[in-house]
Amino acid sequence: MKNELILILDFGGQYNQLIARRVRECNVYSEVVPFDISIEKIKEKKPKGIIFTGGPASVFGDDSPKCDNKIFDLGIPILGICYGMQLMTVTLGGTVEKANKREYGVTSVNIDNNSLLFKGFNSFNNFLMSHTDFVETVPEGFKNIASTPSCPNAGMENKEKNFYGIQFHPEVVHSENGINVIRNFLYEICKCTGDWEISSFAKEKIKSLKEKIGDKKALCALSGGVDSSVAAVLLHKAIGKNLTCIFVDHGLLRKNEGNEVEEVFKKQFDINLIRVNCKARFLQKLDGITDPEKKRKIIGEEFIRVFEEEAKKIGTVDYLVQGTIYPDVIESGLGKSAVIKSHHNVGGLPDYVDFKEIVEPLRDLFKDEVRKTGLELGIPENLVYRQPFPGPGLAIRIIGNITEDKLNILKEADSIFREEIANAGLHKTINQYFAVLTNLKSVGVMGDERTYDYTIALRAVETTDFMTGVWSKIPYDVLEKVSSRIVNEVEHVNRVVYDITSKPPATIEWE
Ligand code: XMP
Repeated sequence: MKNELILILDFGGQYNQLIARRVRECNVYSEVVPFDISIEKIKEKKPKGIIFTGGPASVFGDDSPKCDNKIFDLGIPILGICYGMQLMTVTLGGTVEKANKREYGVTSVNIDNNSLLFKGFNSFNNFLMSHTDFVETVPEGFKNIASTPSCPNAGMENKEKNFYGIQFHPEVVHSENGINVIRNFLYEICKCTGDWEISSFAKEKIKSLKEKIGDKKALCALSGGVDSSVAAVLLHKAIGKNLTCIFVDHGLLRKNEGNEVEEVFKKQFDINLIRVNCKARFLQKLDGITDPEKKRKIIGEEFIRVFEEEAKKIGTVDYLVQGTIYPDVIESGLGKSAVIKSHHNVGGLPDYVDFKEIVEPLRDLFKDEVRKTGLELGIPENLVYRQPFPGPGLAIRIIGNITEDKLNILKEADSIFREEIANAGLHKTINQYFAVLTNLKSVGVMGDERTYDYTIALRAVETTDFMTGVWSKIPYDVLEKVSSRIVNEVEHVNRVVYDITSKPPATIEWE
């Protein structure tokens, strides 16, 4: 499978993944690579165009990131965004000036719509500007194609060489029609035809997996999460019964979740699935443990042990399937730390599973593309759009010691909350929502009886990156319904509270 390619040179800007996604939204395949990629590698990849991203550095810094200057001799179109434009400017003989003050915000930009980059645009367009330095004089051979009162060179072009620079960010939603700037670069300047489509991805991936794996055997740890599910179905479509999936059900999943996973993969797809029910084993290991990090560690380790034991029964396999996706690849590949992810991964790679090679069928896809692929493959929508669920499961939503009774209480309360959120049509706007069994007991009154029972906390957040988030303003009538259903339907709960803290300072999970 060889698609037209746009290379995105990463100079450290916060929107770099977004640029890659926007390019793909325009049906052109894109890859993010480090800014210092060698000229040989670039030539090997044969890109149709190159984009320099923005970045926090200043071209005046001693160790500011620079690409190999020979990149300008390749005859490949280049679009420099923000820092990328400034770097292009100083490298090609123009000048960049230091500003005293950072310009930030959506600004009306006066543009030259005779430039191919702005084809179809009005003379003024609102774009997001975010910069300190600015281009004072454009390099020889370039002309100005955009300006604002405080940034006279907000855009430049060298039409003959197909080099373009823009000081604003077309990739963010705040930039009106920003995607059309990217589209113009791809289609008008790089002359792409647009041959990247998710539906053809799935078909071609299945074909190439079939060729690669042939009649050898593969093993996959299925969690019921989106990534491992899509990876498993792709492999299954490629090699059928030569794929074995192991689903370690630690008993800490949400109500009915284990059965739902089994139903989809065994019945709908007829996948070779081994479900290992080991609730008792996990509960025993967790007995008396109250420290959240200890809970995580125990569950992560035990998960691996169970997986290894099952894998041993199968014997040697040729391939181990991993649900790695593109953001993980970019983060680790570019040497940035992925601390949040790694401690969140359930256990990582098993040490003692006998396999020859890892296969990662989703390593080129962004999350939204993984979801589209899942739908394309016929995976049910509720699984494809499943909210994130932590590997250690409900264990970190029961504060303190975990018992089977507490697990049951939490499963019921959480199920009611999720049901009512869906009934209210809020499940697509709230990114994560769940119930927590606090360790707090308080006095209540039911009928004429005094009760002394548990408090359930409800948590719901809106976020895009899960690193920060705000608590969701769920309408009072929905909260009221959830609260009254929980205290009426779930035994041993007599109080429900709503968590109104954002992240930071609180985290999304309570433990
Ligand atoms: P926090 O609580 O750190 O959560 O704000 C951020 C996101 O990460 C998920 N999370 C985990 N996922 N193992 C996981 O696989 C974990 O130990 C873990 N802890 C938190 C959390 O659900 C949220 O989506």
